Amino acid sequence: MRVLVTGGAGYIGSHTLVELLTEGHEAFVIDNLSNGHEKALSRVKQLANKDLGFVKGDIRDRDALDQAFSEFNPEAIIHFAGLKAVGESVEQPLIYYETNVAGSVELLKAMDAHDCKKIVFSSSATVYGTPQYLPLDEEHPVSPVNPYGQTKLMVENILKDWAHDGRSATALRYFNPVGAHVSGRIGEDPHDIPNNLMPYIAQVAIGKREVLQIFGDDYETRDGTGERDYIHVTDLAKAHIAALGVMNEAAGFAVYNVGTGQGTTVKELLAAYGKTIGRELPFETVQRRSGDVASSVASPQKANETLNWSATLSVHDATSSSWNWQSQNPDGYGQ
Ligand code: NAD
Ligand code: UD1
Repeated sequence: MRVLVTGGAGYIGSHTLVELLTEGHEAFVIDNLSNGHEKALSRVKQLANKDLGFVKGDIRDRDALDQAFSEFNPEAIIHFAGLKAVGESVEQPLIYYETNVAGSVELLKAMDAHDCKKIVFSSSATVYGTPQYLPLDEEHPVSPVNPYGQTKLMVENILKDWAHDGRSATALRYFNPVGAHVSGRIGEDPHDIPNNLMPYIAQVAIGKREVLQIFGDDYETRDGTGERDYIHVTDLAKAHIAALGVMNEAAGFAVYNVGTGQGTTVKELLAAYGKTIGRELPFETVQRRSGDVASSVASPQKANETLNWSATLSVHDATSSSWNWQSQNPDGYGQ
């Protein structure tokens, strides 16, 4: 299949491209490089030993989209492009609504104009808000607690309205993506200070940051620290290909959780990382981060059954691949 990947130069996009190309699909990327890296794309090409088209452009720019659609004539889209920092979305909500929501609408308009009828969208477990029960299944009520989460839910609703008359849309609600490609050639390289736990731990491990701050140890969990469902980025990448595989003219709109079904606490993840690198990592406990929940764990049953997909990689695979990437590339892609 010819797949146009928006945001393909970013963390999850680059890993998905490797899987797509390796599986024999053709791919083309549109990315404005605001948080992505052109070098990631050249490494994807090397890893898959395949060619890859690229337009540097913004999904809000219809001319750039038209250029990508005309050059590549895609049969399907995987839509990663967007902004993802929760705190920033509270400070600057309009940029989030403009990029994530208006940008997605522009993309759908371009799809209609170029007769492209399939899209897989990066949604997030954040749409559930504070869990009312665990594990979270797709029937759990949605109630995002910040503008970032709102944008994900809005796009899901737009896709639901759009997906008729032979159009199909799949929203994947990612839990907590972690890890890197087994080669250590591509990985997560945020342009700013990492917001998420795993890249922060990796930077403590490499000596770029002194100490991990644990945001609260008084939650109702095994050890008092927050519990999450960490999904290896390579497993997550494969879920996109599984989703494309079941989409057809009658599919309409569908939503799936992408997680492992297993929870890991902050202290457990830190200990696992320490075991990988052979030394304990320093931490200090500070106040809870506002907006954090105690536990978030997926029920991946729907994806297991309908997409015939399940997570195969462990937390140990995630810490060792993260370290492989971080130690081989202490400055990331070196911007
Ligand atoms: P990322 O920032 O590494 O990748 C996003 C890519 O989109 C970047 O390469 C960036 O340059 C590009 N981009 C941003 N705005 C753009 C625009 N207006 N036009 C064109 N390109 C643009 O992030 P990621 O972690 O790979 O996340 C990918 C998607 O998955 C995002 O939509 C994110 O919201 C979603 N998601 C991520 C996580 C996570 O923890 N990483 C969790 C749930 C959902
Ligand atoms: C964050 C986002 C969420 C997004 C998810 C996956 C917030 C409030 N939520 O959630 O919208 O879908 O990432 O990208 O940002 N932690 C520390 N110290 C740190 C960093 C994190 O103790 O320096 C803890 C957190 O309190 C949490 C766990 O580690 O318990 C995981 O944090 P993080 O990686 O930021 O993910 P989420 O909180 O799940």
